[in-house]
Amino acid sequence: MNRIYMDHAASTPVHPLVAEEMLRIMTGTYGNASSVHAFGRDAKRIVSSARERIAAAIHARPSDLVFTSGGTESDNAALFGAAMARMDRGRHLLVSQIEHHAVLHAAERLAEQGFEVEYIPVDTFGRVDLNWIREHVRPDTTLISVMLANNEVGTTQPIREIGAFAREQGIWFHTDAVQALGSLKIDCEELNADLISFSAHKINGPQGIGALYVAPHIKLPALLHGGNQERKRRAGTENLAGMAGFAKAVELAVSGLDERHAESIRLRHQLVEGLKTAIGEDRFVVNGDPEHTLAHVVNISFPAVGTETMLMNLDMEGIAAASGSACTSGSLETSHVLRAMNLPENVLHSAIRFSFGLGNTSKEIEIVVKKIETIIGRVRINH
Ligand SMILES: Cc1ncc(COP(=O)(O)O)c(C=O)c1O
Repeated sequence: MNRIYMDHAASTPVHPLVAEEMLRIMTGTYGNASSVHAFGRDAKRIVSSARERIAAAIHARPSDLVFTSGGTESDNAALFGAAMARMDRGRHLLVSQIEHHAVLHAAERLAEQGFEVEYIPVDTFGRVDLNWIREHVRPDTTLISVMLANNEVGTTQPIREIGAFAREQGIWFHTDAVQALGSLKIDCEELNADLISFSAHKINGPQGIGALYVAPHIKLPALLHGGNQERKRRAGTENLAGMAGFAKAVELAVSGLDERHAESIRLRHQLVEGLKTAIGEDRFVVNGDPEHTLAHVVNISFPAVGTETMLMNLDMEGIAAASGSACTSGSLETSHVLRAMNLPENVLHSAIRFSFGLGNTSKEIEIVVKKIETIIGRVRINH
């Protein structure tokens, strides 16, 4: 059976040019970037070059980027780092309800440690309201964390506006751009954010490497202590091949952004229109914001079929899609994102996320539509 992968928001295939660059490094460079000999200097050059290439692609200064093990570590470093760094100002944090668990669970841990976390609500499209934030900041608020684009429904947020307001108030602002990178143009200096999280494996780069942008005026305490790597901001021997692969992936993502965007819009349109014809528009609902959205993420509820049943049936047909966020798939929990959007129960329990990327074709969408039609025809609601 030819399998169809429509779960690019969970992880993506490594681009052949990324793999080629990584293999060259893994087979050719084995020094430690901290060593003073020629092997060490070779390694150090790879680290510096990767940092410069990524910085150039997202309009940051190389020294503003701290390499991490991925989005989760970047989010944790931002939340814990900011909370600790600003205890002289206060212990109040504002975090949106629809953040990835890498932010939400870090915030919960901070709350257990005596910080006060307030959750920013969203509307039925998954958007936060800047006025709500204006009304809830306090003199002791130290950090606001709102993601650039949501991983489950694709909704994007008014990040520049929130960031500008936070700056006016002297509050640090973190945004998780893990899903946005490669889908939206990212200019770190224009986003008005002090801390921005990135991950390579969502953009056809390797798993286990990411970065945290730390604006030049921010002094963030380290999570990991040890050697002097990353200017003492994140200790540990560098992941050379990962960094180079991440750099290549970012370059490809940024240079191919317009083309990929147009292709995602086309596939998305074909999927939604195809479903209207095949099963009728009253049999499904698209969740999220029709205007402010990532093109490659489409979250659809089929109220007649529960999420698990649909996912299992799709999987049996060789089609990979997702419920909720990648990290919680496999568990039966209802999505905290859809719950925060206050959607009807039957919509909550029947949501499926399709996300497109490298390798997806119109032909695959045609097959997916047909298979959904068949599944809906044979399955009765079971909850
Ligand atoms: C929005 C968002 N933030 C953070 C993460 C975690 O990133 P990583 O898998 O690189 O740890 C993910 C991954 O699903 C994500 O979608």
